[in-house]
Amino acid sequence: MSAEKSGPIIAPSILAADFTQLGEEVRAVANADWIHVDIMDGHFVPNLSFGPDITATVDGITTQTLDVHLMIEEPEKWVETYAKAGADCIIFHVEAVADKDAALALAQKIRALGVRAGFSIKPGTPIEPWLDSLEHFDEVLVMSVEPGFGGQSFMPEQLDKVRTLRRAIDERGLDVLIEIDGGISADTIRQSAEAGCDAFVAGSAIYKQADKAAAVDELRRLATL
Ligand code: DX5
Ligand code: ZN
Repeated sequence: MSAEKSGPIIAPSILAADFTQLGEEVRAVANADWIHVDIMDGHFVPNLSFGPDITATVDGITTQTLDVHLMIEEPEKWVETYAKAGADCIIFHVEAVADKDAALALAQKIRALGVRAGFSIKPGTPIEPWLDSLEHFDEVLVMSVEPGFGGQSFMPEQLDKVRTLRRAIDERGLDVLIEIDGGISADTIRQSAEAGCDAFVAGSAIYKQADKAAAVDELRRLATL
């Protein structure tokens, strides 16, 4: 994990890929650090994406870290399934669990499966109540759009949350990565890096480019401080 912290982590979101050639689309970003897999259930968010079978298919064609973002209700029912499908990190939404005890129990369950545990937070949810629980997680995914769709505009005010997290993590010397998701592009990635993000999800900014590998390299260059 500390090795990963040596440079910015770029995580293309396959939600923006051409699904008729998913294998090609994953191989096109072989220079990326992680692959971000967006799971939507049509209830927690008003959209459906794909599920464990596609996740397992992606896992079968790459050794890249699979960063699985669960935008689903009752995430506790699904973590074994996604661990089996090859997730290296499972991120659930704090808005999808009953309370903090349930969140901590779920983080423990994910780690017990040998998978890194992350939580994600929607734009309208304050981060402060979660700061005293950071050691139970390996990653925090800050949403910089309302979850549910790719291609939305970046919400710069969400970087306050990133700064608060960065301070808390550094003050306590914790090994927790801060990742940002939504509207990340050549125009928004540097301010996110400056606010303290370690990992950057990008869907449209990579998959809508002709040269996807070059887009990954350019984002990494811009995020390197
Ligand atoms: C949104 C998803 C994102 C999305 C990002 O709910 O969590 O990962 O794919 O797409 P862009 O980079 O296009 O905003
Ligand atoms: Zn995502």
